Amino acid sequence: MILAARSSSGLSRVSDEVKALGGRARPIAVDLSSASGVDDLIDACDDVETLVANAGVTLAASIGSLARDQIDATAYLMTAGITRLCEALVPAMVSAGKGEVIIVSSIAAFVPMKKSAAYAASKAFATSYARSLDLEVRASGVRVAALCPGYVRTDLHRRAGLDHLSSKVPGWMWLEPEDVVAAANRALVRKRVVTVPGIAYRVVRPFLSSRLAQTSWQRLTRR
Ligand SMILES: NC(=O)c1ccc[n+]([C@@H]2O[C@H](COP(=O)([O-])OP(=O)(O)OC[C@H]3O[C@@H](n4cnc5c(N)ncnc54)[C@H](OP(=O)(O)O)[C@@H]3O)[C@@H](O)[C@H]2O)c1
Repeated sequence: MILAARSSSGLSRVSDEVKALGGRARPIAVDLSSASGVDDLIDACDDVETLVANAGVTLAASIGSLARDQIDATAYLMTAGITRLCEALVPAMVSAGKGEVIIVSSIAAFVPMKKSAAYAASKAFATSYARSLDLEVRASGVRVAALCPGYVRTDLHRRAGLDHLSSKVPGWMWLEPEDVVAAANRALVRKRVVTVPGIAYRVVRPFLSSRLAQTSWQRLTRR
């Protein structure tokens, strides 16, 4: 397993967990928000069977408050970088007649998000990209899944200065990372491209763009 992230300490921790379970892990410290970082990761890859495009950050910022470098780096990380990884790694899967591509998107792909326009738009890109990629490679035996979770208990919100969400967003709206992984496995088995983990989110998904849902969501997440 090749593990990619920027933080060496995080990589060592996950690498140790993989080894403790009897697997082999190769951690690579790269910044995937730059083309050179993505190229370094691609150079390290050989015969990839499963690609998980998971790296992402959330940006909670009012319009006009993002620096140019921040906009460019985040856009690359969450859109063009995913394309570049797939361009480099998927053709070998197609030739082999097997392989899996899991793109971690978000429920934000389907709903407008105040002060998170760039994040929501990048997830719409990721989901749309996965759907088209699936159309192209499905017949070869390669499976593609776009995961679109709602709130998941990870470090994402704390790192974005959105700690208040853990107390404001009701418990039923939170998923555990294991729920998302299980949903990914089911999606691959069932050959379902776009997957919304969690029954509560699946039930409300058709109504997410309604005014009522939008107003309630904004009340819940307001700072
Ligand atoms: N948590 C949620 O509620 C939620 C909901 C929907 C979708 N998602 C999506 O789930 C994915 C995983 O996020 P998470 O919730 O697990 O957040 P997280 O705990 O903050 O993990 C993010 C991961 O991405 C890596 N990463 C971030 N920027 C990177 C960069 N420039 N280069 C390389 N690696 C980078 C981080 O490692 P380093 O910081 O060490 O680089 C970390 O391993 C993201 O795509 C996110 O948008 C999360």
